[in-house]
Amino acid sequence: MKFLVVGTGGREHAYVWKLAQSNKITKLYAAPGSPGMARYAECVDIADGDLEGLADFAHRADIDIAVIGPEAPLADGIVDIFSERGLAVFGPTQAAAQIEADKDFALKLMHKYDIPTGAYETFVDAETARERLKAWQHPLYLKVSGLAAGKGAIYCETPCDSLRTVDEVMVQRAFGAAGDKLVAMELLEGEEASIFGFSDGQNIVCIVPSQDHKTIGEGDVGLNTGGMGAYAPAPVITPELFDEIVQRIMKPTIRALALEGRPYRGILFGGIIVTPAGPKVIEFNCRMGDPEAQVVLPLLKTDLVDIVAGVCDGSVADLAIELDDRAATCVVMASGGYPEAYETGFPIAGIARAEALGDVVVFHAGTARRDRQLVTNGGRVIGVTAIGDTIQSSIDRAYEAVEKIDFDNAYFRRDIGHRALNRGIDSNIQEPAQSIFDSEVKNGVCGTR
Ligand code: AMP
Ligand code: GLY
Repeated sequence: MKFLVVGTGGREHAYVWKLAQSNKITKLYAAPGSPGMARYAECVDIADGDLEGLADFAHRADIDIAVIGPEAPLADGIVDIFSERGLAVFGPTQAAAQIEADKDFALKLMHKYDIPTGAYETFVDAETARERLKAWQHPLYLKVSGLAAGKGAIYCETPCDSLRTVDEVMVQRAFGAAGDKLVAMELLEGEEASIFGFSDGQNIVCIVPSQDHKTIGEGDVGLNTGGMGAYAPAPVITPELFDEIVQRIMKPTIRALALEGRPYRGILFGGIIVTPAGPKVIEFNCRMGDPEAQVVLPLLKTDLVDIVAGVCDGSVADLAIELDDRAATCVVMASGGYPEAYETGFPIAGIARAEALGDVVVFHAGTARRDRQLVTNGGRVIGVTAIGDTIQSSIDRAYEAVEKIDFDNAYFRRDIGHRALNRGIDSNIQEPAQSIFDSEVKNGVCGTR
């Protein structure tokens, strides 16, 4: 089969790396790809925002299935464009991707279908927002409803912070049209985890839980980033909690979207927080997490081609997904200064030495090749993933690998996995959980192409 992976980051590199292991793949393309992906795939110079250009290419190259990595092309309707042209594509339609692209829609859906999440209120003008927020208990989160590259959730400690945020978003329009709607959300407290499920619109199979580290600083302080590291499995999600999340959150959401006439095909990402009152949804995303993909995909034993095909042809219920029973940790090496201003163009050395340790893969997030030299070319530069028998050993190996890699101004957090280790039960590498949902939704509602 010929596959095309759309995107340029570490997550897409992980897709390409995993797909390349399949003996069903005859040709792999990445658009626009990266120097890391070029090891396994032919990179074609088409931006991930050029939806028509990508569809033209997929048609010309006779692609069997296109796998879409990032949220922006999904929210812009790449799946609809491919489908209209009869091209098979892995990802949700524009209507289904609203679960990430419109937080107001997502919260409304969750409340309508009793899916556990926080209280919320949506504002469309600054005056009403200011007035209504007086009645809200603080701290709270204010969120721009549209896509904001992970920067759209703003913690407001006091009413004063809320008023300032209303002004920034709705008057100064710091987030442009993404801030047309502003959502206030109750502060939820607890430990977070990322749950991914593969769905064909009717059934969903959820795989090993992982945990991201969103802030730049050790001890989870400082500015939010795209994610500074991840590990899986995340022991905060016990088998009981996993089951509860699948039964009360993931399955009902797939059912709700189908009932709303927006059947969801692709990867549903539940951003879950384990509160004293049980697991609740902080947000949904319409794609895999980055860097979570870099720890979850290496633990997948099943051929990713079979899973992608199962999602596309509506046979997720027949999938028997097998997972590695070890653990994986990914440490992101970033450009010093990120997530604020940083320099690029520094030569990167030592990747081969790191990978020679064994059970180590270096995923490229922001690199470029200049005069045959690999150089830094982004905020997050690489993700160093290692597999080990325990979480501790995967962490140790990941840091051993990081020490072999060198570029000017490199920054990484030294505490990836601290929550798992602080529990003192590294052991909790359970039978990697997964689940199948036999939906009550009638056949046909999900309307495969
Ligand atoms: P989001 O962009 O919605 O994923 O939010 C980014 C991060 O902000 C989340 O991973 C949480 O750490 C935090 N966050 C967002 N909403 C809430 C909430 N309602 N309660 C607590 N933390 C939140
Ligand atoms: N790592 C969080 C995300 O991809 O949104």
